[in-house]
Amino acid sequence: MAKYKIAWLPGDGIGKDVLDATRIVLDRIGLDAQYIHGDVGWEFWCKEGEPLPKRTVELMRSTDCAMFGAITSKPKSIADTELVPSLRNKGLVYRSPIVRMRQKFDLYICKRPCKAYKGNPLNFKEGIDFVIFRENTEDLYSGIEYNQVPVEMLSIKGMENVARDAAISVKVNTPKGCERIVRAAFDFAQKHKRKKVTCVHKANVVRATDGLFLEKFDQVAADYPGIEADNANVDSLCQWLLKKPFNYDILVAPNLYGDIISDLCAQMTGGLGFGSSGNIGDSYAVFEPTHGSAPKYAGMYKVNPIATILAAKMMLEWLGEHAAADRFEKAVAQVIEEGKTKTYDMGGEATSLEMAEAIAEKL
Ligand code: NAI
Ligand code: MG
Repeated sequence: MAKYKIAWLPGDGIGKDVLDATRIVLDRIGLDAQYIHGDVGWEFWCKEGEPLPKRTVELMRSTDCAMFGAITSKPKSIADTELVPSLRNKGLVYRSPIVRMRQKFDLYICKRPCKAYKGNPLNFKEGIDFVIFRENTEDLYSGIEYNQVPVEMLSIKGMENVARDAAISVKVNTPKGCERIVRAAFDFAQKHKRKKVTCVHKANVVRATDGLFLEKFDQVAADYPGIEADNANVDSLCQWLLKKPFNYDILVAPNLYGDIISDLCAQMTGGLGFGSSGNIGDSYAVFEPTHGSAPKYAGMYKVNPIATILAAKMMLEWLGEHAAADRFEKAVAQVIEEGKTKTYDMGGEATSLEMAEAIAEKL
């Protein structure tokens, strides 16, 4: 029996391309793992009315962790019309499977390293090395949403003047949720000898929820006197990140701001082809590239698989395979620095599989 069981969830579009490429590198390093395919994505919404079928959730429960490609999410009007006729008008509601996985498995940490590898032609500035800790289960992504104000809500103080046809999305931030993500960021900083953790918020305007996040940040920071604690409003942070990137190290944020700054930081360190993501809980984890399913490139094996290969590196770390994780990252760094193999986004013509092959060769 293999040492590890890993759920293999390509999903939609380029999800399959990048997972196929990543497998080349994992196989070359000889990880003693069994990879088990799971159905997830738009196809299963259309055919079954469920983009994250129960059988896939059960498969995940029987494995150590999962590698995930990407999924396609389309607006409500399209979601309804693309269902098979027998499932239409049954009140089925599409919700992104990745968001649901994060909540179902309580994967409260979304860890997103953003590192400008030496020689990457897409770097904003060489030497940038942020790690984002994005809260992953609550905030505006809680899924508590109303297309119209529920009547019961109208009697709540402060709601009197809200138009009845207003759409409402509820931002939920709990003391526990805020505290554990902040602690994860500081623990990481301590373990990896990082100097500073910056809390990203908008507490001057969004006073209740972001105020709580900032309050928990200050409390937790006091337990780590050796690490500098700083905070910034999310809008101002975006300009400071571009102006003074070397002032930042570890960033911790509620879900929505974390999502937004992730793409900004990914772009500063090579773009979506380099952004990897670990959705991590206390007993399960799902590793994925930050990018989506990029439908226009689906099946062309054209996109950059490095984001997913770096996600697999994070998976190796999570499994405790630190030597293999280091080798993975060194191989990626070498290929980037040599600059001989480049995918289209880097100005080259290598396919996803050729890039993976080049990385595997370095192992
Ligand atoms: P996207 O990330 O799929 O692609 C945007 C653009 O970024 C692409 O057209 C391509 O030019 C570039 N790109 C993305 N990945 C790349 C790679 N590996 N190498 C080189 N270039 C790359 O975002 P978009 O177009 O906004 O969304 C497409 C679909 O993906 C939507 O249905 C969206 O809902 C979904 N999505 C899913 C996510 C997930 O599965 N976690 C995350 C983000 C979007
Ligand atoms: Mg995003």
